[in-house]
Amino acid sequence: METLYVKAKSTDYPIYINDSFSELKNAFIEAGLEGRKICIICDSNTNKLYLEKVINEINGLFSHICHFSFKAGENSKNLDVISEFYKFFIENKLDRKSVIAALGGGVAGDMAGFAASTFMRGINFVQIPTSLLAQVDSSVGGKTGVDFMGNKNMIGAFYQPNFVYINSNTLKSLPQREFCAGMAEAIKHGYIIDEQYLNEIEANKENIKNLETNSIHSLIYKSCKNKAYVVSKDEKESGLREILNFGHTFGHAVESLSGFSLIHGECVAAGMTAGLYLSSKMGMIDMDEVLRAKRLLSYFMLPVNVKGYDKAEILNKMLLDKKTKNNKINLVLLKKIGEAYTEKSAPQDLILSAIEYIVN
Ligand SMILES: NC(=O)c1ccc[n+]([C@@H]2O[C@H](COP(=O)([O-])OP(=O)(O)OC[C@H]3O[C@@H](n4cnc5c(N)ncnc54)[C@H](O)[C@@H]3O)[C@@H](O)[C@H]2O)c1
Ligand SMILES: [Zn+2]
Repeated sequence: METLYVKAKSTDYPIYINDSFSELKNAFIEAGLEGRKICIICDSNTNKLYLEKVINEINGLFSHICHFSFKAGENSKNLDVISEFYKFFIENKLDRKSVIAALGGGVAGDMAGFAASTFMRGINFVQIPTSLLAQVDSSVGGKTGVDFMGNKNMIGAFYQPNFVYINSNTLKSLPQREFCAGMAEAIKHGYIIDEQYLNEIEANKENIKNLETNSIHSLIYKSCKNKAYVVSKDEKESGLREILNFGHTFGHAVESLSGFSLIHGECVAAGMTAGLYLSSKMGMIDMDEVLRAKRLLSYFMLPVNVKGYDKAEILNKMLLDKKTKNNKINLVLLKKIGEAYTEKSAPQDLILSAIEYIVN
């Protein structure tokens, strides 16, 4: 098992990377959480696949174990379902010392984290991510929340977990489409902060796609390390952390407009293509790099363009983004491969040409 630490301003916490659940019990003991009540939040898929295994591992460790399962998918990521969580917590008499554990992908993690951050003004929270996207990205860094009125992550809180426990073996049951969506975030980490990592992903893409254990561990480790570094410098996104949104302003607009028929990582892939194109139009990177990115994303079956969208509608959605200030869309672009920055004054005609590049 490998251990990495996130050293954020508000707390320090470990990320454990393993190929089974065998050390989960120790992780809870190490965090001083034994003897309490625990509620495991899973979705309808991870409920069937992993809930029993996890409960068996932690058997005897807690005074009360309960679980709440919601219908899998982004459409559940809303305040109505959060309300159901709260009711369930009260029925099970959870208290301030209790623990909420997210067992699932980014949707379970974001929702369980948000519920943990608000229930009784904040109770203990643990992430047990099972999708690649959650293992390389969303379980680390403390962003939690839900969608509201069709707008992505509009309601939320920064709330760091007590620990993150990754069992990479869970990826074996993950549908390929979901695996590939997670690759979009891993590739993003290469583009924004770690050129060498990007090159490694490219060189090792077949082993990664075949879920070869060492390659997958290295992928998870390096993505978590990069993300932990960014979060440690800027926990609440007042500067450097913004770079993690590379591809996301374009991507979230497409994701909302698709009615969530395109999944998050797919939208990020199309969004990164737009971001790379705009970076090249602004003279920072070569157009060859845009083509190279499209080849890598396509290898992981990620969309580099999307059909049937109106570019003005996408622009309007982008204006609603949390990073838009005074009607100025803040966009993360690349100074060069492996170095991202926030551009506050990209000309709107160029932004439109980048949208056009991906909607055509
Ligand atoms: N908090 C953050 O920093 C952050 C970062 C990136 C993305 N996100 C959010 O994460 C969400 C996307 O996460 P996701 O792609 O994991 O979606 P998800 O949680 O919906 O999981 C994708 C699908 O895979 C299934 N699944 C998960 N693990 C499985 C496994 N091991 N075997 C079989 N099926 C499995 C789920 O049931 C679901 O159907 C979005 O809501 C996005 O906004 C948050
Ligand atoms: Zn994302």
